[in-house]
Amino acid sequence: MSDKQRVVLVTGGMGGLGETITTKMIDAGYKVAVTYSPGNNKHAEWVAGMKANGYDVVAVACDVADFDSCAKAVGEVRSGLGEIDVLVNNAGITRDMTFRKMDKANWDAVRRTNLDSLFNMTKQVADGMVERGWGRVINVSSVNGSKGAFGQTNYSAAKAGVHGFTKALALEVARKGVTVNTISPGYIGTKMVTAIPKEVLDSKILPQIPLGRLGQPAEVAGLIIYLASEEAAFVTGANIAINGGQHMQ
Ligand code: CAA
Repeated sequence: MSDKQRVVLVTGGMGGLGETITTKMIDAGYKVAVTYSPGNNKHAEWVAGMKANGYDVVAVACDVADFDSCAKAVGEVRSGLGEIDVLVNNAGITRDMTFRKMDKANWDAVRRTNLDSLFNMTKQVADGMVERGWGRVINVSSVNGSKGAFGQTNYSAAKAGVHGFTKALALEVARKGVTVNTISPGYIGTKMVTAIPKEVLDSKILPQIPLGRLGQPAEVAGLIIYLASEEAAFVTGANIAINGGQHMQ
């Protein structure tokens, strides 16, 4: 890492994947802030627990689907830790159901949280990264954005949109020292995946994964740490799969 201790903001940083990204990035020498959804009343407890384990984290409430909420949250992180060098757009939700059962509210909620959030959050930090001549935007998509998934028209559409955003923004900031990349995790052992009905997971999903197991959050965090590093300066506009071989492109 450079002499400066870089600042990372992880959206959804208290979630299954987010918490591991947070601890691994602190281990790697970054200052880390996380967003949590405004309805989450466990945040103080979580921050205290992290601190007790030696992880000093700034946590700010933020509805990533809401532009003004993102502006406020990023302002708070700036006051607490300084300018943001690395943005990890990780927050996401599922509302799985077959298309015929899906109503507009479940379509909109997933699109707003998983796709509109990229505009809402990245808009707060992109100018600063360009002005300082260094930045990393890492967008968490999904294997299901590339291959589709039964019960996920909303999620697959939003996650496919993530990579379009990545490629366009990567072009615009390529000469400014800022990289923009997508990572597409497969099925990782987090609450989002363990919430899938067990018979569906065992009979429909695990058999599709050549490695024969779910991924681990730490494996995804390792990839994010690489993309945030100086060594990854030549990687931009990429969509890096991390899915145990489930979908090869
Ligand atoms: N592939 C093919 N057929 C499937 C299927 C699948 N993955 N899942 C269900 N079906 C079939 C069922 O076998 C059933 O068939 P029959 O009518 O012939 O018996 C039919 O579809 C209806 O299934 P359900 O009764 O389960 O329908 P439902 O409406 O109750 O539930 C569902 C549908 C909510 C989509 C449920 O199947 C489900 O939760 N599936 C998992 C969806 C999934 O993979 N989500 C990923 C979450 S993790 C994540 O998103 C992280 C990431 O990025 C990877």
